[in-house]
Amino acid sequence: MSNLDDFYKYQAQTSPHPLALEISKAEGSYIYDIDNNAYLDFVAGVSANTLGHSNPKVIEAIKQQVDQYMHVMVYGEYIQQPAVALTKLLASELPAPLEATYLVNSGTEAIEGAIKLAKRATGRATVISAKNAYHGNTMGAMSVMGIESRKRAFRPLIPGVKFIEFNNPDELNQITHKTAAVILETIQGGAGFIQPQNDYLKKVRQRCDETGSLLILDEIQPGFGRTGKLFGFMNYGIVPDIVVMGKGMGGGMPVGAFTASHKLMNLLKDHPKQGHITTFGGHPVIAAACLATLKEVINSDLQEKTLEKEQLFRKLLIHPLINEIRGKGLMLALIMKNEEITNHLVMECMKHGLVLFWLLVETRAVRITPPLTISNDEIKQGCDIILKVLNQYNV
Ligand SMILES: Cc1ncc(COP(=O)(O)O)c(C=O)c1O
Repeated sequence: MSNLDDFYKYQAQTSPHPLALEISKAEGSYIYDIDNNAYLDFVAGVSANTLGHSNPKVIEAIKQQVDQYMHVMVYGEYIQQPAVALTKLLASELPAPLEATYLVNSGTEAIEGAIKLAKRATGRATVISAKNAYHGNTMGAMSVMGIESRKRAFRPLIPGVKFIEFNNPDELNQITHKTAAVILETIQGGAGFIQPQNDYLKKVRQRCDETGSLLILDEIQPGFGRTGKLFGFMNYGIVPDIVVMGKGMGGGMPVGAFTASHKLMNLLKDHPKQGHITTFGGHPVIAAACLATLKEVINSDLQEKTLEKEQLFRKLLIHPLINEIRGKGLMLALIMKNEEITNHLVMECMKHGLVLFWLLVETRAVRITPPLTISNDEIKQGCDIILKVLNQYNV
């Protein structure tokens, strides 16, 4: 049996039509299949491979840590240098009062922790989220997901969640003194890479302050430099009460985290004791990979270059079949004329050696979220492939 057959037979499937590319290795901006065909990666494992594939600094950090120790104890009991150094460096890069970070294993798990913390801190039950929002796939994160078709089959979910329209200030009066938290993606991802407009986040922040509700911002996609700042919210002049991160934080390793003030985070210590528990959260090898990634993002010119690379994409990708380009930095989505063109573009580009991908809700969108380390030449090569495929498309 080939790996392909075994993949379909033994590995639980999540899609009726997976891309099923069989990987042999990955390096820099390229992924290689078992026949050694190279694929230029405009997706970065869905915004995860911040520093490209097999980044030597990340690999070195992982190897060094593996040689010292791996898992030794559940989260939060022992002092493990990689997690301490990582959370300290994060605190120095985040605005006050965001200082204490809880490390977990995935984005969705970090969302669960953030919602629990908001409930524990306010004693309130209601959470406000946004229509078309995606925050993960566990029960709590799914409860705040604004995509009904994706959650109908899994009800009942956690009660007390209300949905408002992102970017509509008229709906902010739904945030009341009963609201524990408002949870938003800083830039809506699956919905189509929609940026907050007209000081929307400032208005949300103000309403949260008026009502004593906590503002949770999901930075799992924009975080770690993708929008030209370390976190997306830094572009919009506000500070959330809880910031949630994941994906690009790990430089290719699985991770999630949520950060808040000491005052808030300390609430998880008692009443009940161990208000949030994880076995592997803060894992030393993962933390070492995150630390190497964070150091590189903050000590290089990658963040500012991200904005220049955005401009290059915008300059190159002008075509009658592309309606608009949404997003910021290297979190970009091409909005095509229709869904059929989107599907054609993703599949044909794959045949021409360029990896693109879809978004969850906006079916006309083509995801462009390459590694931040992608070169201008690689951007040009990839855009040439996109334009070639579009030029050959029979409208
Ligand atoms: C905005 C956002 N929140 C949460 C998640 C969930 O993260 P994970 O898949 O690591 O659980 C994702 C993943 O796509 C995401 O894009």
